[in-house]
Amino acid sequence: MGRVHVVGAALRPLVVLGATGSIGSQTLEVADRLGIPVVALAAGRASAALAELADRYPEARIVAASPPASDARSVFAGRLEIGSDAVVDAASMPGAIVVNGIVGAAGLSASVAALDAGNRLALANKESLISGGPLVAAALASGGGELIPVDSEHSAIWQCLMGEELARVRRVILTASGGPFRGRSALDLESVTVAEALAHPTWAMGRRISIDSATLMNKAFEVIEAHFLFALDFDRIDVVVHPQSFVHSFVEFVDGVIKAEVGPPDMRKPIQFAITEPDRVPAPVRSIGLVGTTISFEEPDREAFPALDLGYTAGRRGGNAPAVLNAADEVAVEAFLQERIPFPAIPDVVAYALESVPHRELDSIEDVSVSDQLGREAAARAVGRMPR
Ligand SMILES: NC(=O)c1ccc[n+]([C@@H]2O[C@H](COP(=O)([O-])OP(=O)(O)OC[C@H]3O[C@@H](n4cnc5c(N)ncnc54)[C@H](OP(=O)(O)O)[C@@H]3O)[C@@H](O)[C@H]2O)c1
Repeated sequence: MGRVHVVGAALRPLVVLGATGSIGSQTLEVADRLGIPVVALAAGRASAALAELADRYPEARIVAASPPASDARSVFAGRLEIGSDAVVDAASMPGAIVVNGIVGAAGLSASVAALDAGNRLALANKESLISGGPLVAAALASGGGELIPVDSEHSAIWQCLMGEELARVRRVILTASGGPFRGRSALDLESVTVAEALAHPTWAMGRRISIDSATLMNKAFEVIEAHFLFALDFDRIDVVVHPQSFVHSFVEFVDGVIKAEVGPPDMRKPIQFAITEPDRVPAPVRSIGLVGTTISFEEPDREAFPALDLGYTAGRRGGNAPAVLNAADEVAVEAFLQERIPFPAIPDVVAYALESVPHRELDSIEDVSVSDQLGREAAARAVGRMPR
């Protein structure tokens, strides 16, 4: 086999947002292997992990969204840029591929900025689409950039749709592993611990998405993400539980043909594809042995995991409802991680916030911020009322 040949888009420099996280570190592994220059790295905090990256990438801009403690500044030897405006500025670097691996609604401004600048946005930060789907769609339409999904399910759908017409899609079917509590009853879930909820059976991920996978809120988010990415209404987006996580999603076409993307659960695959698309280049991803491999599918348990239907409800309401869903979930997940509320209270808190925040349409990032704040306040009220 000859040298890895990376064509077209992949020669463009990489901006990695959320560089110290799970997606960020896997992105850097892909970039190093393919020899792609990294021109900017951003994280939430000026942490030791970010300082290590500054050493590893001496040419890259180094950005932290929040200011460091004064004694930490010197570690960065004057290279540190600080503030969310600096993150947005990095996302706007001309001609870049921007991998957005920020966690939470904080990722939205950077996504919009990358698309406004005409960049390729390789989007892992699903909250950009949940909180501000209409704004991301508008920036994509006006800025001349590209939006390629990194979430494995949406990457799968994207690949199944290559060379196809969206109008010929009957439905998409997102697969869900079911998380660590698949098969448990609503009653069983009362007593689960934080450590159990963080122990995802098939994927190694950041803390928030791990809890969201355990509640199925992550799948609820992915339903909304699919709605915005593929312009599908919610009746054409289904979810099926597939515990082995080999099938990353299905697309069913009007003639009854179903396509799927199948492979081991490994985020380096969709990350790499979002960078090299439409090209494919070799990757050190193992093949799954088909013979002797069992794959199975089940209906999601909507009673034990009500978060899934909250996603459909918020998505169908539109406007600010998905932003409220996301903001309230961030608060509820944090409260669960701090052992202030039990696991089944997470969807209860989110449902309360969805019912209490008034509906409005979203025309700007400020509108999203207001709804995000109202969602957080409502969720905090609900958390405060929960028995300890
Ligand atoms: N991990 C996966 O396998 C996976 C799969 C599909 C989709 N996703 C999505 O990808 C996103 C990242 O997930 P993750 O699992 O990689 O999370 P993670 O491991 O918690 O990492 C999050 C990263 O975001 C940074 N960050 C936080 N706030 C920021 C801000 N305001 N500006 C810039 N950077 C900020 C963090 O830096 P600090 O630590 O310094 O705050 C960290 O580098 C999420 O939206 C998640 O849903 C992840």
